Amino acid sequence: MADNTRAWMEELLAEMEERRKSVEAGGGPERIQKQHQAGKMTARERIAYLLDEGSFVELQPFAEHLETGLMEGVEAPADGVITGYGRLQGRKVCVFSQDFTVLGGSLGKMHGRKIALLMDLAAKIGAPLIGLNDSAGARIQEGVDSLSGYGEVFYRNAIYSGVVPQISAILGPCAGGAVYSPAMTDFVLMSKGSSYMFITGPEVIKSVTREEVSFEELGGADVHNIQSGVAHLEAEGDAAVLDLIQRLVSYLPQSAKERPPLQENGDPKDRTTPELMDLVHPDPKRPYSMHKVLETLLDNGEFLEVHPQFARNILVGFGRLGGHSVGIVANNPRFMAGALDINASDKAARFIRTCDCFNVPILTLVDVTGFLPGVAQEHAGIIRHGAKMLYAYAEASVPKITLITRKAYGGAYLAMNSRDMGADVVLAWPTSAVAVMGAEGAANIVYRKEIQHSPDPAATRAAKIAEYRKTFDNPYIAAGRGYIDDVIDPADTRRLLIGHLEMLSTKAENRPFKKHGNIPL
Ligand code: HXC
Repeated sequence: MADNTRAWMEELLAEMEERRKSVEAGGGPERIQKQHQAGKMTARERIAYLLDEGSFVELQPFAEHLETGLMEGVEAPADGVITGYGRLQGRKVCVFSQDFTVLGGSLGKMHGRKIALLMDLAAKIGAPLIGLNDSAGARIQEGVDSLSGYGEVFYRNAIYSGVVPQISAILGPCAGGAVYSPAMTDFVLMSKGSSYMFITGPEVIKSVTREEVSFEELGGADVHNIQSGVAHLEAEGDAAVLDLIQRLVSYLPQSAKERPPLQENGDPKDRTTPELMDLVHPDPKRPYSMHKVLETLLDNGEFLEVHPQFARNILVGFGRLGGHSVGIVANNPRFMAGALDINASDKAARFIRTCDCFNVPILTLVDVTGFLPGVAQEHAGIIRHGAKMLYAYAEASVPKITLITRKAYGGAYLAMNSRDMGADVVLAWPTSAVAVMGAEGAANIVYRKEIQHSPDPAATRAAKIAEYRKTFDNPYIAAGRGYIDDVIDPADTRRLLIGHLEMLSTKAENRPFKKHGNIPL
């Protein structure tokens, strides 16, 4: 009897192993070879590369499609998506990876169900959700069931937004419905040359609008990283994108209930930064490198810039100060003199909200003369977009520190997290100037009549500009009114920022009850 039982069990185990192997073979050797020839890893290779060795635990490998419509008799191992959990640099994460070798990674009902269940799990256990996307979109053969599969995923993208970090890597085609789930996540990363995102492909576009466009030109990594702002980061090939995900996750907490991990990195907290004294030029029209300012201030000079190629007039990204993860928003004097325009406002507002969701303190570096003037900006809604920045800063309850490096003028001064918009600590270098507008513009308005009626208008104008500069173009009036907490030596900046950050680590703020705010979108 015992022998019979053992033999029966062995038979069952052999069958189980055979079924598992067949699932693990995905779409078979030919399609896998095609995947490799396209310079891409397979869905399983990607998971193995991303996670700590041997840590991945797969869920529902034996899931099967619903045999509906045109799917009768069609083989679809794991229904085209591998889901499970594992460890990334020792921390728990949930991962799904779409298998392009199985029906082009298309999403049917079961495929969507598997991702949805994983999302539920990520929210329950409090772990980041990482999606490795490589999909031809809705599985055409499953009709409305595939749309329902997408619905299950989209719904959870929204419900779990701000609950756990959601990160999407686009590592192949991402067509039709496939684009909207990533678009609702916190970060979208694309592989250069082997990924693209679009709602309707080149063929459909040609038939509707007669425009002829390639996949790359329509929705390649450059398009979405430079022009549309849909993607936050890009890198050459799968491995580099997966490396970027590892870096990104290191700055984020497991969920909204936690803080980002503290990382001891050997950079002394009391390191002085005298090199900053030579960086800012006294002529306000001369640009300087805000990247250099950040690299000098941050631990070991490490700054993970997010959206580095989109709206380059503003910089956003992550770094560390004294081992604490910080989100940085900084004007970039090298592009459009750091003026705020529509794209910069969208980029910054989104990043501020991402930091606030996940308990990442925000450091704002200010050198801005204003919102970008122009008919095109006004007509395209700079009022609506700029309002997002004001809203996002006011709404954020994480510690917020502002450092004014040079100019802080007008509405942009407020939009860059001034005291009145909720900054907890405002510091300024002696090079800074806080005013309603620059001296030249101000003199032209305030002293217009005096200049016009003067025997030497040019000299009077120059004198009035100098007078205005002397009175207003400095940080001391704002400091005198309490809008600035201290004017500091650039050499002491790092030490002071870390001190203030640690002081604010126990910050708690009560806000009035509401269902949710209504940010102008
Ligand atoms: C089911 C699909 C599929 C799909 C491709 N396949 N698209 N199966 N549903 N949507 C299958 C192919 O038949 C093929 O199967 C395999 O996937 C690989 O496809 P190829 O065309 O050989 O690959 P490639 O040449 O690399 O081209 C990839 C592609 C192309 C550019 C993505 O397949 C394509 O254009 N597919 C259609 C994309 C699309 O229009 N999707 C939108 C669907 S509508 P075999 O057996 O030969 O390997 C949608 C709306 C949802 O998503 C809205 C929700 C809100």
